Amino acid sequence: MLYNVGMKNIVILISGRGSNMQAVVNAAHVQKWPARIAAVISNRADADGLVFAQQHGIPTVVVASSDYATRVAFDAALQSAIEPFSPDLVVLAGFMRILTPQFVQHYDGRLLNIHPSLLPRFKGLHTHRQALQANVTEHGATVHLVTAELDHGPILGQATVPVLPDDTEDTLAQRVLEQEHILYPGVIRQILEGKR
Ligand code: GRF
Repeated sequence: MLYNVGMKNIVILISGRGSNMQAVVNAAHVQKWPARIAAVISNRADADGLVFAQQHGIPTVVVASSDYATRVAFDAALQSAIEPFSPDLVVLAGFMRILTPQFVQHYDGRLLNIHPSLLPRFKGLHTHRQALQANVTEHGATVHLVTAELDHGPILGQATVPVLPDDTEDTLAQRVLEQEHILYPGVIRQILEGKR
């Protein structure tokens, strides 16, 4: 492969379906970003998203969290897997792990996450359930820089959807996910263009 030195390297971390990863891969290709998706790395060997990445010729790596006794050991192995790809950005896309402060510090300023709520509301898991229980009329997704505290960190972009009277967790999740697939590539592109 011919490597263009002007290209930025993006490493995407997934744990499962990987639909946000797919949205980023597709946008990078269609919009001809000055970046390559250097690798997709999963903490689970059975993550469905790995198949998509392989089919698109993207290097994949599995660092199985089940193989490591401690968070520190896992994150050290994860960092060792990421480093050979010289990442300019590390993009968490449904990566279901809490990261250690050491790891977060190492990637300070280049580690992004998408969270399915309008932060600072509804941190943690089951965000769509939390939104329905809180009776909010608006919900959405947030892209933020990752800091040591879970689901904190400077917000880089948000997308809002209405909550409809007959929504279930599934219908709401689907409506939010459609927006995630627009929001995440959009924010990453702005970063690559130096607009953030
Ligand atoms: C998305 O809703 C994302 O916001 C959250 O986990 C989900 C991952 O979905 N962090 P996918 O793996 O990108 O399809």
